[in-house]
Amino acid sequence: MLKELQLSLSVILLLSCGFLYRLTTKFSCHFSCLPPYKSQQGPEGLLGKGRSIVFIETSERMEPPPLVSCAVESAAKIYPEQPVAFFMKGLSNSMQPPPNSTYPAFSLLSAIDNVFLFPLNMTKLFEDTPLFSWYTQINTSAERNWLHVSSDASRLAIIWKYGGIYMDTDVISIRPIPEENFLAAQSSQYSSNGVFGFLPRHSFLWECMENFVEHYNSDIWGNQGPNLMTRMLRVWCKLKDFQEVSDLKCLNLSFLHPQRFYPISYPEWKRYYEVWDTDPSFNDSYALHLWNYMNQEGRAVVRGSNTLVENLYRQHCPRTYRHLIQGPEGLVTGKLGPGNR
Ligand SMILES: *[C@@H]1O[C@H](CO)[C@@H](O)[C@H](O)[C@H]1NC(C)=O
Ligand SMILES: *[C@@H]1O[C@H](CO)[C@@H](O)[C@H](O)[C@H]1NC(C)=O
Ligand SMILES: *[C@@H]1O[C@H](CO)[C@@H](O)[C@H](O)[C@H]1NC(C)=O
Ligand SMILES: *[C@@H]1O[C@H](CO)[C@@H](O)[C@H](O)[C@H]1NC(C)=O
Ligand SMILES: *[C@@H]1O[C@H](CO)[C@@H](O)[C@H](O)[C@H]1NC(C)=O
Repeated sequence: MLKELQLSLSVILLLSCGFLYRLTTKFSCHFSCLPPYKSQQGPEGLLGKGRSIVFIETSERMEPPPLVSCAVESAAKIYPEQPVAFFMKGLSNSMQPPPNSTYPAFSLLSAIDNVFLFPLNMTKLFEDTPLFSWYTQINTSAERNWLHVSSDASRLAIIWKYGGIYMDTDVISIRPIPEENFLAAQSSQYSSNGVFGFLPRHSFLWECMENFVEHYNSDIWGNQGPNLMTRMLRVWCKLKDFQEVSDLKCLNLSFLHPQRFYPISYPEWKRYYEVWDTDPSFNDSYALHLWNYMNQEGRAVVRGSNTLVENLYRQHCPRTYRHLIQGPEGLVTGKLGPGNR
């Protein structure tokens, strides 16, 4: 009897040690916040092959809103063999993300096999790039649009360093992008910087970073973003208007038709939150940019509403849909639903 008790006690002890070990390794983020079975390497080893999909969060926020979660999850689903890297500013300060219950989206994303969360350390990122001198001289607290400007800068440096595809956190992936070096047109002769992809160390991005510093003016909206991409594209290519829905090619760069990412243009952004007679097929698109900055009124995705965006979530980011999207009553009573308590 006593022996049996001893035995079962030691089994319990062993089991709880294992559990504690998993818990502590999961929540100590030295390089990336990953369960132990995921790669322990830093961004260099993991992203260096130029095949990664990159997202950036320049605010300190640690809990991504549902749309961000959907963007990252949908990319992980469309590119199952490629690393999806989410660089978060908040991770560079606090090395201990709080437990699941308070950060359901953070936990949901870190549990996806090919999603990797990295701290965004701009000092480190901008070293060896033209952005470094600008970054060390700027008074970030005096910059009015710092979250946007620093995001514009970071995406250039990350894709220049590692290669891969950058996407804004309001872009839902629906099929793979079959391009290596590309910019996405928002309209004829005008490039966005919400999605772009390059092989590592591409000179186009290096020149973008030089131009960023030379023409820096954060008071002009988009000057370091879409306007910069468009300026540089004009230097590299003779831009023509798009014909039908085909892409433009110049040197080794593709300039993708607005239909690829912007089938619904920004004045029309509310269409995503409406119920359609038949949902559009988006056959000519690789991903959908939801224009979240237009959504100042904070429209949310509501379970059971049958809006276009609800159906997109259900199909392209099912985990986010299941765990983070509430029915109309959830919006009134609070943020946590049954799936994430
Ligand atoms: C945290 O959430 C993830 C995904 O929802 C789950 O796989 C994991 O077991 C949870 N961890 C704890 C300690 O509850
Ligand atoms: C960021 O990187 C720089 C240069 O590598 C390093 O000195 C600094 O400690 C890092 N900051 C944080 C918060 O990790
Ligand atoms: C940076 O800007 C803030 C806000 O405008 C100001 O209070 C602070 O003195 C500035 N710091 C330096 C070093 O100029
Ligand atoms: C693309 O073309 C540019 C200009 O001709 C060149 O500098 C760059 O190395 C090329 N990149 C690749 C990956 O071929
Ligand atoms: C879009 O794709 C679907 C399924 O692949 C197909 O049935 C439909 O005809 C296509 N629509 C257009 C406009 O090409």
